[in-house]
Amino acid sequence: MASRGHWGGKLGFILAAAGGAVGLGNIWKFPYVVGQNGGGAFIFIYLVSVIFAGLPLLIAEIYIGKTSQKNPVGAFRFFQKGSVPFSIIGYAGVVTAIIILSYYSVISGWTMHYLFLSLKGFSGSEEAVKGLFGQMYESPATNIFWHSLVMLIGVLIISNGVQKGIEKVTKILMPLLGILLVSLMIYALTLDGAGKALSFLFYPDFSSITPKVMLEALGTSFFTLSLGMGAMITYGSYLSKDISISQSSIQIAVIDTVIALMAGLTIFPIVFTNNLEPSAGPSLIFQTLPVLFSKMPGGYIISIAFFSLIIFAAITSAISLLEVVVSFAVDERGVSRKISTIFFGVVIWLVGLLSAISSFKTPGGQPYLDFLDGIVTKYLMPIGGLLTIIIFGWAISKAQKNEEFGKTKIFAVFNFVVKFISPVLLAFIVLNELGLFG
Ligand code: PHE
Repeated sequence: MASRGHWGGKLGFILAAAGGAVGLGNIWKFPYVVGQNGGGAFIFIYLVSVIFAGLPLLIAEIYIGKTSQKNPVGAFRFFQKGSVPFSIIGYAGVVTAIIILSYYSVISGWTMHYLFLSLKGFSGSEEAVKGLFGQMYESPATNIFWHSLVMLIGVLIISNGVQKGIEKVTKILMPLLGILLVSLMIYALTLDGAGKALSFLFYPDFSSITPKVMLEALGTSFFTLSLGMGAMITYGSYLSKDISISQSSIQIAVIDTVIALMAGLTIFPIVFTNNLEPSAGPSLIFQTLPVLFSKMPGGYIISIAFFSLIIFAAITSAISLLEVVVSFAVDERGVSRKISTIFFGVVIWLVGLLSAISSFKTPGGQPYLDFLDGIVTKYLMPIGGLLTIIIFGWAISKAQKNEEFGKTKIFAVFNFVVKFISPVLLAFIVLNELGLFG
């Protein structure tokens, strides 16, 4: 399409892609998974996964997008050789984006509700503050209200396009997020529990590394880097030829990882200062922290800053999910951006009702939100990632990749990693999830 959007420049791309990557995964999920999996050892494996699977796949996805200048479906078709329809991976990505956004929007809504509660101020007994989560979780009206607001904000931003929508918003929200996070982290590091938090996060107790911890670390690194479902392909497709992929990818991966670590450095000193269990799980930021906010000096301002920060992170990720779907409709079906955004906004909003109404359960009795998140992080993203890296490693010739990456020694090493190491790591994960290792 002649009228596809483009980023205004390199900074615009980096901020948009880092904005897509940095989200609930970094600030909500990463700290609680670290807490549940023993701290330092988990972080060590997480970093190894980012280097050997996350970064190579990020480079591969941005390459596939930039070279084809297409949405994920068109992009995979562009590289097709022979009769195997590569575009299926693109379709799977679009469906995955719809599923993720449907529940991501609901959790983003929770963070908005908690900003609203912060503005009112957390007060009362510990039980009362903890109970706020259950009240919200069980109220369809509250969930649907905030879920609708998140989807509406997403539709408004995405209908304005790549430069005037995504780029403009991320250029404002990402610096704000940085300022808030740095300030909160500095504050947290002055607390008594900071020393304990540092050793919990950075002193790896290797005996706590089990296959389950390794899988969890890999899955988390994929989710926080937005891999295996076409988001980075889509953002890469708005790159112009003169922007270097390897450099930008490293910057994006570093920003994403540093922000996850900073979230840990903010949350754990607060947790340890107050002798709380780091392994509280998903409720860590919605139940554990608010109890502290209600007691600690300055808790009012800190809770407002904290929940604003998460909202900024969530919005810049939510729009990257919507853009995957919209770019597909615009490129492949020739529908206008406005109409596709509204149409898919409504579709995703409807699917999201499954997760927003917590009394809806799967036949197995699981809430839809947990069920969908499990399908995405255990199966859809790792399988999508595995197929993408295989295509990048094996179906795209070395000569073709040399045009983008040059003929350097580093490229030779990288090409070896994407052909042999990353696919094996990913295959291991996928096979394990499918139950092949018992
Ligand atoms: N990376 C986002 C986060 O960490 C989640 C996400 C996944 C966004 C896939 C887009 C695509 O919260």
